[in-house]
Amino acid sequence: MKLIIINGPNLNLLGKREPEVYGSTSFDTYFSDLSRRFPEVDLECFQSNIEGELIDRIQAAGFGCDGIILNAAAYTHTSVGIGDAVKAVPCPVVEVHISNTFQREEFRHTSYISPVARGVILGFGLLSYDLAIQSFLKFT
Ligand code: DQA
Repeated sequence: MKLIIINGPNLNLLGKREPEVYGSTSFDTYFSDLSRRFPEVDLECFQSNIEGELIDRIQAAGFGCDGIILNAAAYTHTSVGIGDAVKAVPCPVVEVHISNTFQREEFRHTSYISPVARGVILGFGLLSYDLAIQSFLKFT
């Protein structure tokens, strides 16, 4: 199974950024462990702070892999373009958030991705990505 994790803006700062919200582990460290935990999955990851680059990657991956795990970060709440890209590709997309966005500010309660995603996993810290992989293993 070929899956890609696509992370949006500021997620390159995981481990340093607001550790009380996002934890103190860097994504690189987490991703190495994650890849080890799921040896049966061909797992790739991509991060960008730029909306168009995220759309390009969704388009590039979305016709050739078994699933996308997407944490569009702040663009979740603003980007019609990313929502449209998710809708445009045939492969299923699971939306992930580290924090429980519904316990946070009102503007984080809106998602342009949820209506077009296969499912949404949020609020379990970095474990949210593990759960997304498990959902693909179970449902694909
Ligand atoms: C986030 C939640 C977003 O609201 C926020 O802008 C992020 C991270 C999360 O994973 O909890 O950057 O997507």
